[in-house]
Amino acid sequence: MSDIYQFQFGISILEVIYVIASVLFILGLKMLSHPLTARRGNSFAAIGMVLAIIATILFHKKDGQPIGNIGLIIAAIVIGTVIGLVIARRVKMTAMPQLVSFFNGMGGAAAALISMMEFPHVSPELIAKNGMANGYVLAILLGLTIGTVSWAGSMIAFGKLDGWIGDLRVKAMKYVNITILLILIGFIVFIMTRKVQTSAELTPVIYIMFAVAVIYGVFFVMPIGGADMPVVISLLNSFTGVAAAMGGFLYNNQAMLTGGILVGSAGTILTILMCKAMNRSLLNVIVGVFGGGGQSNLAAGESIKEITLTDAAVLLSYSKKVVIVPGYGLAVAQAQHICHELDKLLDEKGVEVRYAIHPVAGRMPGHMNVLLAEADVPYEQLIESDEINPDLPNTDVLVVIGANDVVNPAAEDDPSSPIYGMPIVKARDAKNIIVMKRGMGKGYAAIENMLFFNDKTRMLFGDAKSTLQNLVNEVKSL
Ligand code: TAP
Repeated sequence: MSDIYQFQFGISILEVIYVIASVLFILGLKMLSHPLTARRGNSFAAIGMVLAIIATILFHKKDGQPIGNIGLIIAAIVIGTVIGLVIARRVKMTAMPQLVSFFNGMGGAAAALISMMEFPHVSPELIAKNGMANGYVLAILLGLTIGTVSWAGSMIAFGKLDGWIGDLRVKAMKYVNITILLILIGFIVFIMTRKVQTSAELTPVIYIMFAVAVIYGVFFVMPIGGADMPVVISLLNSFTGVAAAMGGFLYNNQAMLTGGILVGSAGTILTILMCKAMNRSLLNVIVGVFGGGGQSNLAAGESIKEITLTDAAVLLSYSKKVVIVPGYGLAVAQAQHICHELDKLLDEKGVEVRYAIHPVAGRMPGHMNVLLAEADVPYEQLIESDEINPDLPNTDVLVVIGANDVVNPAAEDDPSSPIYGMPIVKARDAKNIIVMKRGMGKGYAAIENMLFFNDKTRMLFGDAKSTLQNLVNEVKSL
């Protein structure tokens, strides 16, 4: 029967489909790099995954036998699909990072389970020939360790992003985490140097290793401060990719291997880029040390100034250069469309309007780009914060809409702040600053923002959408 599916030159139909699936993953990933093609890219990768799953069920053989437990596999796929669909349809755009973290954790758990299931079944012939020190065992152990760390870490990240787990900062955490890492490496060396007849003899060690990896996953994410969560999520994402690639290696499944390697390498590149953007070191991310607690810098008597809608409309309409800094609050208020209406109105009055895009504004990478693309703001109007910062002293009005941490000068002024060292939009360099937010609520990093007390800053309180709507009406009536 298997010969029916075997082409000439020994290539099977399964391998051909795996290559097609891998090409679809790569094309999909490439398309994700631009907002205009991202949706199609997602579909390409999803089609690749569906093809790989169907082909595996139909054509995969182990020791000449087709796949068993088809009923259970289909039931699991149906349950997973229904749960995934319902969650993904209901989730709010602003809760996306929690969802990504949760799904990522499930990937890590699956990879860890594969390793736990496969460990007792390492072929005795392989052990007789090479002992436990072989690539197959190493792939199982790495899949177990990395997958478990990714699962445990992602669950903590999920709780933190959802707001029901706080930060836990203990001074010695760095050393504790390094020690646990060394213990995990010690376990791998221990298992691979044992002389045994069957791998099943070492199964209890695998369970202890799993428990230690859970502790490491929890400990390394627990101390991470709010503003640094994006870097950790991206790192956990790359861990899941590497763990899945180990599974692909174990099952000689090329689609799983390519998919895992793509996620692993893309996640690693994103982590490195985000470390650069946040001015953090990769080593510190891995052992779970980021900025400290921070304190309020508010001096007694420091006060804020407000601006009326009419004054804001006049100031904006008679400016030459305006820069808008969008943040998480713009997404919460779903004010992107009315924001674009304001920028078009100002443009008609001859005002140059640009957007300053901070790499971690919002709650997921590229959040502001996606949000503003949804409102058809031309891509050329979106300028990276690094690029626009030198021009801010020539900017007449900088309008902060629902952003906080990404314009917080504590990142430059206060070494005790958890966001110290993170590059920011240098809002205070502009000639005038208008801040739109509902009240004096803090940002994600939960720290005071001295920009709001700056002499040049005036606050325009209210929900971003209704404030912008009122502002548009004022500008029209001028
Ligand atoms: P934040 O610092 O989170 O500040 C958002 C501000 O928006 C709040 O201070 C809030 O103040 C205001 N706001 C909320 N709802 C509003 C509404 N309906 N209308 C008007 N204002 C509203 O946002 P940011 O500056 O974009 O910074 C992002 C933060 O999230 C960073 O610390 C970043 O590290 C972190 N983070 C980012 C990501 C990624 S990858 N982007 C992922 C996880 C975490 P009021 O309550 O006073 O209105």
